[in-house]
Amino acid sequence: MIAIGCDHGGFNLKEAIKKYLDEKKVPYKDFGTADCNSVDYPYYAYRVANEISNGNCTKGVLCCGTGIGIAIAANKIKGIRAAVCDDEFTTEMARKHNDANILCLGGRVIDEKKAVLLMDIFLNTSFDGGRHNKRIEQISQIENGIFKIN
Ligand code: RB5
Repeated sequence: MIAIGCDHGGFNLKEAIKKYLDEKKVPYKDFGTADCNSVDYPYYAYRVANEISNGNCTKGVLCCGTGIGIAIAANKIKGIRAAVCDDEFTTEMARKHNDANILCLGGRVIDEKKAVLLMDIFLNTSFDGGRHNKRIEQISQIENGIFKIN
């Protein structure tokens, strides 16, 4: 199950991604917002990120004007690795190296066609594991206040 959310700056991207998910028959939960009226992005980041953190959803996508604010907010939630991506390479790396569980996109940065392409890459690229496992574990230790400096 995919969790999706946006503010007004990302609304058009979210709708395009929903259409893509419908076509691909990928189940999702839409946490809003429901139109282009101005709202505060942390609310949507919080709802989507918690849905992943608590295991109800496996991955998510969050869209705002730049993807930045909504990513900063989502990354405050335990277990969240939200990545702002605006091209194919960064999206692929976010999955392969960082095991990103939320894709963050900017409606004032990329168009709807690019958003759908990046969502497709995000959903269909696996984490490489290997040497990257240790680094993901270190991020988790930082999050849990148990990271040790050598
Ligand atoms: C809203 O105007 C804008 O600040 C927001 O969508 C986002 O870009 C924040 O990072």
